[in-house]
Amino acid sequence: MIPVTKPFLPPKEEYEQYLSGIWKRQWLTNMGPLASELEMKLKEHLKVKHLLFVTNGTVALQMAIKALDLKGEIITTPFSFIATTSSIVWEGCTPIFVDIDRQSLNIDPAKIEAAITPHTSAILATHVFGNPCDVEAVDTIAKKHGLKVIYDAAHAFGVEVNGRSVFEYGDISTCSLHATKLYHSGEGGLVVTKDPALLKKLAYIRNFGFNGPEAFAELGINGKNSEFHAAMGLANLNHIENIHQSRKALTERYDRMLRNLQARKQDWHREATLNYAYYPVIFDSQEQMFQSIQKLQGNEIFTRRYFYPSLANTLPYLETKNFEVTDDIASRILCLPLYFDLTAEEVDLIARLLLRVQNN
Ligand SMILES: Cc1ncc(COP(=O)(O)O)c(C=O)c1O
Repeated sequence: MIPVTKPFLPPKEEYEQYLSGIWKRQWLTNMGPLASELEMKLKEHLKVKHLLFVTNGTVALQMAIKALDLKGEIITTPFSFIATTSSIVWEGCTPIFVDIDRQSLNIDPAKIEAAITPHTSAILATHVFGNPCDVEAVDTIAKKHGLKVIYDAAHAFGVEVNGRSVFEYGDISTCSLHATKLYHSGEGGLVVTKDPALLKKLAYIRNFGFNGPEAFAELGINGKNSEFHAAMGLANLNHIENIHQSRKALTERYDRMLRNLQARKQDWHREATLNYAYYPVIFDSQEQMFQSIQKLQGNEIFTRRYFYPSLANTLPYLETKNFEVTDDIASRILCLPLYFDLTAEEVDLIARLLLRVQNN
């Protein structure tokens, strides 16, 4: 059986070493030494000034919206994971969807201004599959209209644009360290900002708003993460180069094997590095995609229609709306298996099966 994804696991002894320390200290959560060490090492690894290790990527988004004090309407993409939209609604704001760009699969900056109203407070855009948005265009629009920018960078761990971390764009960037992500801590997330005042506010928010044992600075939430998750993050960070190399080789092999497939990939930001987080293919026809899913399933190979359906026409708590590009792309995009220990032979098998569907 070949699943669409499998979490990377470090050698058990390496995780156990961290566990021994936890047993010795009996300090399990509340910004413990491993959580602090992870934050320090991630800052160094990602070359960012400030970040906080939090519960997960969803809470990270909610904390970002709260910290920026956003109200009213937030412009966002319908082509993302549910948490991008649900966090906006959860924070009492209204998501205003803007269609995506057909090439990058990210929010189309050319369509943002038409969606701005006097109630708009921010833009919340996703770097889809780790591919950076047109950050310059988004930031220019935001500045012109006095809007805040949050990037849902859940997929974008390790990506750099114009020589610096993609996490440093926007007012706040968030990341998910969920087990399905290329780098993970089991459950986990990051909030990243360049602004020290905002960092301070986010730190209060993460810890119930506490400012010392008996005082409160902010309306907070429990956004802390545990020492066990930090230990997983630390153990995995020691292997990040290997993880990257393995995914890169597998991706390049897919590219070679599938060069004659009637399908395409998203266009990657020209000034950005790749992190090989996913292997999405956009089939020329939906029929070809369905036949491919079936063929692969018949061989115990599992794929995922990601992102499908569009967030703009599925949610029971929002009015539905169709978007030409999003609906079209969502209807024929498929993520193929990609994970650290997927083998070259497995990639070849998947590719052969896809080509067989096409050539029959
Ligand atoms: C684009 C995007 N945003 C947000 C999230 C939420 O992250 P988490 O699962 O860590 O809460 C995910 C998770 O898969 C995601 O893919």
